[in-house]
Amino acid sequence: MDNGLVLRSFTAQRRAVPRLGARAAAAAARLVPFAPAREPWPRSGAASFESDVLAGLAQPQKAIPSTWLYDHRGSELFEQITRVHEYYPTRNELQILRSCAREISDAAGPRAVVIELGSGSSRKTRLLLDALDTPQAYLPIDISEQFLRESVAELPSLYAGLRVLPIVGDFARIETLPELAVLRAADSDPGRRVVFFPGSTIGNFTPDAAVALLRRIRRWAGPDALLIVGADSTQDPAALIPAYDDREGVTAEFNLNLLVRINRELMADFDLDAFRHEARFDAQHRRVEMHLVISRAQQVSMLGRSFHFRAGESIHTENSYKYSLPAFQQLAARGGWAHAQRWIDAQARFVVHVLEPIAGARACATDVRLMARDAL
Ligand code: TRP
Repeated sequence: MDNGLVLRSFTAQRRAVPRLGARAAAAAARLVPFAPAREPWPRSGAASFESDVLAGLAQPQKAIPSTWLYDHRGSELFEQITRVHEYYPTRNELQILRSCAREISDAAGPRAVVIELGSGSSRKTRLLLDALDTPQAYLPIDISEQFLRESVAELPSLYAGLRVLPIVGDFARIETLPELAVLRAADSDPGRRVVFFPGSTIGNFTPDAAVALLRRIRRWAGPDALLIVGADSTQDPAALIPAYDDREGVTAEFNLNLLVRINRELMADFDLDAFRHEARFDAQHRRVEMHLVISRAQQVSMLGRSFHFRAGESIHTENSYKYSLPAFQQLAARGGWAHAQRWIDAQARFVVHVLEPIAGARACATDVRLMARDAL
């Protein structure tokens, strides 16, 4: 979709849109020009999809990194998941954000630069942008270029004066964000950097990888950043399993879409009818695991290689770790962050953690604010 926005991707191609309408041209004129001389992140294109899948299928427990679930169709399906009844995390997180956006905005201050990790549809962002005091810029980062384009298309017309700088790529690999320096240099009174990381996406990393990610965010976001992380704290399998295996089968289709993508992009011949989606709760690791389980033995060929599947074997496609309040606090501390605020929904399932780099954290910061039921 043509919207006049310039996207930066790993391949450093600037995709300026040739035909600009008047409004889009005005939006484009507000964009800060950025064209990093050198690629700041490792490339994340077809080559790593291919190598991740080849390496993942060669393991004793076959596994594929969950990032690859999010092609355009996967992103659409995930957006549908967020609306199915059993998937409570989005609903509960939105309720929390509606109630606490003001206080988060007070912590952020004026002219904030909002960076969103794995922005998807950017639906939650609006709550934040609406509450913030004249936000300066919004940098959504997402792996699916087309979905990102569509999701941010109307933002410039909704928020006058907001610079929208979409970035295509895997946010977990960011080492530096040159845009941040450009924005700071362009503004005599720059606001706080607010990193927005909703959706319990942090739970899709192993705890060690999550700590590494938190440390990286701290490095590129700087010492006065604010980090807002949405994390699911539910431990009850009776609520968890339906959330990851809904009756309508949307989650199943989302998971199986990975094989559709592999068949299409990597010339494989997975027989989709032989696979089914399965969600399991691992109480020891406190995580939901998503698998694609094969019903019968099958030989699958891909890019000239052959992979054997035993009947009942699975491909592990996703983890979703669930953090109790103390567990998350410990994780954040290992990553260099401490609580400024913490918000929990009335069902006590989902938590929005507002974090600051540890050196700058306030002493009284870890009070838990349980939201009243009628506030929701
Ligand atoms: N961040 C989401 C979560 O952990 C991702 C997710 C929801 C997901 N449902 C899924 C990933 C189903 C794979 C399959 O809740």
